[in-house]
Amino acid sequence: MKILVTGGAGFIGSHTVVELQNAGYDAVVVDNLVNASPKVIARVEAITGKKIPFYEADIRDREALEKIFEQEKPDAVIHFAGLKAVGESVGLPWEYYENNVSGTLTLLDVMRKNGCKNIIFSSSATVYGDPAFVPITEECPKGTCTNPYGWTKWMLEQILTDLQFADKEWNVVLLRYFNPIGAHKSGTIGENPNGVPNNLMPYITQVAVGKLPQLHVYGDDYDTHDGTGVRDYIHVVDLALGHVKALKKLEPGSGLNIYNLGTGVGYSVLDIVKNFEEATGKKIPYVIDPRRAGDIATCYSSAKKAQEELGWEAQYGIKEMCEDSWRWQSMNPNGYDE
Ligand code: NAD
Ligand code: UFG
Repeated sequence: MKILVTGGAGFIGSHTVVELQNAGYDAVVVDNLVNASPKVIARVEAITGKKIPFYEADIRDREALEKIFEQEKPDAVIHFAGLKAVGESVGLPWEYYENNVSGTLTLLDVMRKNGCKNIIFSSSATVYGDPAFVPITEECPKGTCTNPYGWTKWMLEQILTDLQFADKEWNVVLLRYFNPIGAHKSGTIGENPNGVPNNLMPYITQVAVGKLPQLHVYGDDYDTHDGTGVRDYIHVVDLALGHVKALKKLEPGSGLNIYNLGTGVGYSVLDIVKNFEEATGKKIPYVIDPRRAGDIATCYSSAKKAQEELGWEAQYGIKEMCEDSWRWQSMNPNGYDE
């Protein structure tokens, strides 16, 4: 079975390509490299020992996509390509809607014209907004997003749902990721943020490696066990394996399926600092700052549905997530740049 992976040179995409190849699938990558290094593909090939057809192309470029579909004839698409910086999206809403929504519409049109109606879409726990309850099950109502990035995920879920409702030949899986961290055990691929990281774990690893002086903890007055925000961190390799398992929901007649991909366990910011220090022996100095706009107190999943229907469960705990994030950062202090 051949899988076209859009955004396959990115953080989650590159780890998923490794697991697809390990599971015996043929992966083809399309990425415009707007947020990825051209070095990723060679590193993934070094891990798996298999060649990966790579197309440097934009999913908004219909002509390029048509050529790729004609040449590769994929059976299914795993669609990671998109812009994902929450803060940036507030200042650049048009760019986010255009890239993420228009890009996906073009991709879907090329897919159906080529008779490929199987897609796994990267969604996010952000669609739950401030969740109505925790642990968050898939039945939890979608909420109000606090930024354009979140709305693109919300809208694309709706578009895919409507498309599948109208044409039952489509098989659609919406995967709602919680907070992916960690990296491949080899330490050769990992998260490579541009500039100062927005997310907690890359910020911590950059403090640990000496690139940043201290962590800023955004608020210690939330209604949580220690006042700092609680999230469901998941190892990126577990997340990648969730995609491999989700492929079985692209069998004919599967319809629309939605799954949370999380561990079901919530850790606070200070829990993460402590676990990182214990796992790596690195001290993480921090200061308490005011809350970050748009943040919520607590967000963690119920991982039951994916366990029951996909036979998928996260294997890695917080210690391995911290160790593997640190291995990647310490082996590659400047990410993919020499
Ligand atoms: P990433 O930025 O590392 O990967 C996205 C990839 O898509 C990049 O390689 C980028 O170059 C590519 N891309 C962007 N626009 C494109 C376009 N128009 N054409 C072709 N390629 C394009 O991000 P990631 O963390 O690997 O996230 C992958 C997906 O998962 C994204 O859709 C993201 O929104 C979603 N997601 C991520 C998180 C997270 O915390 N990392 C959480 C929930 C959902
Ligand atoms: N935090 C800090 N300091 C930092 C960065 C983060 O204290 O420098 C705190 C945040 O306030 C929050 C927690 O660490 O309490 C996690 O923050 P992240 O920015 O790492 O992650 P978020 O939960 O805010 O959001 C991430 C992605 C979203 C995605 C969501 C899914 O950025 O795109 O996970 O749950 F939708």
